[in-house]
Amino acid sequence: MELSLAGRRALVTGAGKGIGRSTVQALHAAGAQVVAVSRTQADLDSLVRECPGVEPVCVDLGDWEATDRALGGVGPVDLLVNNAAVALLQPFLEVTKEACDTSFDVNLRAVIQVSQIVARGLIARGAPGSIVNVSSQASQRALTNHSVYCSTKGALDMLTKVMALELGPHQIRVNALNPTVVMTPMGQANWSDPRKAKTMLDRIPLGKFAEVENVVDTILFLLSDRSSMTTGSTVPVDGGFLAT
Ligand SMILES: NC(=O)c1ccc[n+]([C@@H]2O[C@H](COP(=O)([O-])OP(=O)(O)OC[C@H]3O[C@@H](n4cnc5c(N)ncnc54)[C@H](OP(=O)(O)O)[C@@H]3O)[C@@H](O)[C@H]2O)c1
Repeated sequence: MELSLAGRRALVTGAGKGIGRSTVQALHAAGAQVVAVSRTQADLDSLVRECPGVEPVCVDLGDWEATDRALGGVGPVDLLVNNAAVALLQPFLEVTKEACDTSFDVNLRAVIQVSQIVARGLIARGAPGSIVNVSSQASQRALTNHSVYCSTKGALDMLTKVMALELGPHQIRVNALNPTVVMTPMGQANWSDPRKAKTMLDRIPLGKFAEVENVVDTILFLLSDRSSMTTGSTVPVDGGFLAT
């Protein structure tokens, strides 16, 4: 998708791998200045080599105090992609406290914290902004062994709507997008078994998983002025899964 984001400063969480990394590359190609936030320094080092000028920030977003130290002084940000998440799959009866805490801290609480930092800066500058929360089709459908993950993403969809409600008067748009399976490191960890993958593919009208580019194109659309009247939405990138 040809979009110019020159002059905009963007922040992407979970930028080391998968959808986040490809989003940074696309934003960089579209002329945006990008702050890339992730947890593994080696991923950020290679990303900066690929995309000179990207500003790396290495932090565990599950740690509120460390995140505050790392991002509290990040400076002006116009576009935010809350993408970092974990998918810790367990049968409901075996769900652990640790999986609950980590999942909600990273998938939901960090979205609140990073969005507060960015939105406060936008409001102080009187600048418009766009925030994209990377949710999942799992926010709206029950998937076996996904009770905690589905719950974090269901909460993220509702957080998106309330953020849109409260930040709209400041001309800050907030949207979620809800992909089906994508074969990133997270997708490979959970959907590489062909028999398990077939159970999902059989529920997708287009009969295929999403490519990273499908997700990145939609993120850039929601960040850009091409979607300037869209806020509070949950946008499927799911081959029709949520229609069934
Ligand atoms: N892949 C799918 O099938 C799929 C489907 C629907 C929705 N999604 C959503 O899409 C988003 C991106 O997923 P993905 O497939 O690209 O995942 P991924 O391949 O696992 O990559 C996630 C990235 O986020 C980083 N990250 C995770 N926890 C972090 C933390 N506590 N602090 C800082 N960075 C952290 C990871 O860093 P480390 O590797 O260093 O931990 C990694 O760079 C997620 O919100 C996910 O829920 C994915």
